[in-house]
Amino acid sequence: MTLKIISVFGTRPEAIKMAPLIKALEREKDFESKVCVTAQHREMLDQVLRLFNITPHYDLNIMKEKQTLSEITTSALIGLERVFNSEKPDLVLVHGDTTTTFAAALAAFYHKIKVGHVEAGLRSFNKWFPYPEEINRKLTGVLTDLHFAPTSRAKLNLLKEGVSEESIFVTGNTVIDAMAYTVKKDYVFRDERLNQIDYHDKKVIVVTAHRRENWGKPLENICNALKRIAQNYKDVYIVYPVHKNPVVRETVFSMLGELGNVLLLDPLDTDEMHNLMAKCHMVMTDSGGLQEEVPSLGKPVLVLRDVTERPEAVEAGTVKVIGTEQEVVYNEGTLLLENKEEYDKMANAVNPYGDGKASLRIIQAIKYAFNLSDTKPEEYKSGV
Ligand code: UD1
Ligand code: UDP
Repeated sequence: MTLKIISVFGTRPEAIKMAPLIKALEREKDFESKVCVTAQHREMLDQVLRLFNITPHYDLNIMKEKQTLSEITTSALIGLERVFNSEKPDLVLVHGDTTTTFAAALAAFYHKIKVGHVEAGLRSFNKWFPYPEEINRKLTGVLTDLHFAPTSRAKLNLLKEGVSEESIFVTGNTVIDAMAYTVKKDYVFRDERLNQIDYHDKKVIVVTAHRRENWGKPLENICNALKRIAQNYKDVYIVYPVHKNPVVRETVFSMLGELGNVLLLDPLDTDEMHNLMAKCHMVMTDSGGLQEEVPSLGKPVLVLRDVTERPEAVEAGTVKVIGTEQEVVYNEGTLLLENKEEYDKMANAVNPYGDGKASLRIIQAIKYAFNLSDTKPEEYKSGV
């Protein structure tokens, strides 16, 4: 029996974290693997597809400028109808917490197709933060048949919600699989500006911030704090690859565009981004994925949010959740610049999120669940 699997994703982070799994699925003779992108993101998705050399079988091309959540949901749902009707897959794989994730799981349910949820079970326990991701992830969980939880904490969250233990597999996070592909010791950047940075004499801070709940005042606070850091610390060099969203770009470019020691860039290719983070002094971000990636690189992370659904690295001490108040962002940022003891406390390489074998475990779990193998994968254990 050949199992037909369609992986559906639409945004940059989903693509990065699904890429190693798709590559691994393609190598399996028991599976027929197809890829459908909603293209909720366009350029930022295409960057990842190029990097990992993935050519989708279906591209719904739904992105619109300043799209609303309802537009994404309905376009994806309608687009997927055609794909699922013609392909009739045995399993649909979705990833994470975006609106594409939820819409694809719902579309699969409408077509009575089983759903496998990669990166299942993360919870902030706050409906509005991250918005709309906390609810997207929960709703997807309700529609899911096979839950691929990255950590035992995520499994526990699902068990507490009444999900049956047999349907949960603790796999580690596929982002660590992806980093095995991107991070290189003697990496040379394709963007010459990144080669020119003096990573020894400058304290390079990598920043990303674009979340929906940070639009407006919180993002302005963050930019004001960064501006003060850049003006008061001449040995600091801030590198901020700015998300394609026009709402975010208007704020960031108007507030930080004129500063000599702030480099605002277009979104970087993921191998460039990962290797930049490996060389930097510290990271300030509201991203979910960076909270998982940077701890393995041994750099401190300040999280520009009030809550996180990824508590493991916070407990390990390399990630600190600081919110978006201007004064707090400034004080926490400068503390790590000035106080070596505080910096050293956080700059430890820990890896609570994976061991690079998550894709392998997911494949074993699918085979086990569909009776193609008697061997249940061993649970990933972080050791942190
Ligand atoms: C989306 C996800 C979020 C995820 C993030 C990763 C939802 C609701 N949000 O947020 O969970 O963390 O992606 O980055 O699913 N744009 C472009 N080109 C691109 C990408 C975006 O121009 O390649 C612009 C468009 O104007 C688009 C806007 O950015 O309308 C916002 O994109 P959208 O996917 O709605 O929201 P994100 O903030 O990217
Ligand atoms: N990333 C990237 N280029 C950039 C900024 C981020 O490739 O210019 C990667 C980053 O390394 C991580 C992912 O994009 O793997 C995070 O995506 P994003 O912040 O868009 O979403 P989130 O993690 O918040 O879901």
